[in-house]
Amino acid sequence: MSGKRTTTRSIVNKKNAEKITMLTAYDYPTARLADQAGIDIVLVGDSLGEVVLGMESTLPVTMDMMIHHASAVVRGVERALVVGDMPFMTYQISPEEALRNAGRYMQEAGIHAVKLEGGHSVIDSVKRIVDAGIPVMGHLGYTPQSTYKIGGPRVQGRTESEAERILSDAAELEAAGVFAIVLEVVPQDLAAKVTAAVSIPTLGIGAGPRCDGQVLVVHDLLGLTMNGTPRHARRYADVGRVMADAFRDYIKEVKDGSFPGEDQSF
Ligand code: KIV
Repeated sequence: MSGKRTTTRSIVNKKNAEKITMLTAYDYPTARLADQAGIDIVLVGDSLGEVVLGMESTLPVTMDMMIHHASAVVRGVERALVVGDMPFMTYQISPEEALRNAGRYMQEAGIHAVKLEGGHSVIDSVKRIVDAGIPVMGHLGYTPQSTYKIGGPRVQGRTESEAERILSDAAELEAAGVFAIVLEVVPQDLAAKVTAAVSIPTLGIGAGPRCDGQVLVVHDLLGLTMNGTPRHARRYADVGRVMADAFRDYIKEVKDGSFPGEDQSF
């Protein structure tokens, strides 16, 4: 391991010291550019299914798909911590299966940590993985693998009982040994409460500015999401338009004979 590599310990030490940045990546060039730009954590999200593979949800994403993409991301990253999402049904059935899949992920893709969705309901799997020496990131609030139960991407934790559950899930995850928790689409006051209640960092997505860090899906940030930018995201570039313009220019120049020119010919 290179001495410059970001570790889970260095991520934890950033709490109350500096904001933590996390972005998703699913391929080598994106991972390389994010790493060179100085991102702290690259997440190989199972959002892969939706933003790269055109699926309706994250549910059809498999361990093999994640390992394929995570391997490319790992090859692109020299400095950041690489976290891989555990896909649906790879950690819910039993702690043994969860550990087997997490171990396979680390050995075959070379990721540094895994992320699991849920709190109390997956706590035995979290403990089993952490006990085996594999770092785990938690994920509370809106959990996309439960989208059909939740009824779509809705704000979680608006009612007192939901808010209490999220707070107690965060405490259980911390006690089980996770090194950070993603809070997705929860009211900002609740995210601030969770952030103050735990000694590990929280990473918000649609959870307001008082988390210890932020995470975005890279396609939302770049303007590459086909169904528009979600409310919680900010579009920092319009790469979709740049690509469409380039494709149109290429088609036009091939048709009118101006490509290839002398410079591209031998
Ligand atoms: O899969 C994913 O991209 C995620 C982020 C939304 C946190 O889990």
